[in-house]
Amino acid sequence: MYSEFEKIQKEALNSIDLALDLSMLDEVKNTYLSKKGIVVSLMSRLKDLAPEDKKAYGQGVNELKKVIEDALFDRQRVLADVALNQKLNEEKIDISLPGKTFNTAPMHPFHLIKDEISEIFLGMGYTIAEGNEIEEDYFNFTLLNMPENHPARDMQDSFYINKNTLLRTHTSPVQAREMQKHKNTPLKIISPGKVYRRDDDDNTHSHQFGQVEGLVIAESLSLGHLKATLDLFVKKMFGPKREIRFRASYFPFTEPSVEVDVSCHECNGKGCATCKGTGWIEILGAGMVNPHVLEMNGYDIQKFTGFAFGIGIERVAMLRFGIDDIRRFYQNDVRFLDQFPKR
Ligand code: DAH
Repeated sequence: MYSEFEKIQKEALNSIDLALDLSMLDEVKNTYLSKKGIVVSLMSRLKDLAPEDKKAYGQGVNELKKVIEDALFDRQRVLADVALNQKLNEEKIDISLPGKTFNTAPMHPFHLIKDEISEIFLGMGYTIAEGNEIEEDYFNFTLLNMPENHPARDMQDSFYINKNTLLRTHTSPVQAREMQKHKNTPLKIISPGKVYRRDDDDNTHSHQFGQVEGLVIAESLSLGHLKATLDLFVKKMFGPKREIRFRASYFPFTEPSVEVDVSCHECNGKGCATCKGTGWIEILGAGMVNPHVLEMNGYDIQKFTGFAFGIGIERVAMLRFGIDDIRRFYQNDVRFLDQFPKR
């Protein structure tokens, strides 16, 4: 009888050792320990035994059961480990593999320069003001000292939506809107955005282009403040060797008005094809805010003075990158666009 137990135990331990995974081990467990399993059937023989044999037999079966249970438990731990490791191996991510790259487009040169101009002025303490691309005639012209029938309106032939509404011809109406909003308090804003004119498109003109308007209002401002501001801007944008010069000009909303030239980056001011032999390249219009404009927009001209400027974004980008034709900005030609830095 005991040799029978030994035989069963040997077979059981052997099967347990041979179980290669948890489901095989489960089968072994069922064979020996389930309700219809071998251990239960051994136990069921107990009732047929002579009373003096029962104790030893019962002990024998219980020991057998315990040995099988322990072996199952140990093997179960080993196999669970194996299963876990296998799963981890299968699901392993190889972090040394290079990532999947996907192609990002470079920044458009218009936006590169628009952002760069904005950052230079933000660095000088300006804040950004938003304007409207669809603007009232009143803000686009009248409040900037160009009343109806003023000849200066002709210089900015326009897209009218109705009698009083048009696509703004410049970013300067933001000046009027900001002054109206902040009546009689100091101001220091820039406003980048799109403007529209009924221009014939050629290599330096487009019916749509970008400007950055600038406006500072404070007590006792002079042309010197304007010059220092624009000099710093030009040196940051085009390099420390660039100089600026003011040329007298006319804008209805500034008095005096100036065109600002930068010394030619190609020839350093000696004169070459890029600057058409003059040594200078025109980059923007500016001036001291006309007191009449300050007054119309709610400022006390005994106290406040202002300066303003309007920078053409494409113009600056063309000079910075050596772009020969403004139309390239809008044609969406990847061969052109791919040449600019990614950010
Ligand atoms: N608005 C002018 C234009 O589009 C540019 C300009 C000139 C803006 C002088 C200004 C300024 O703020 O002071 O031609």
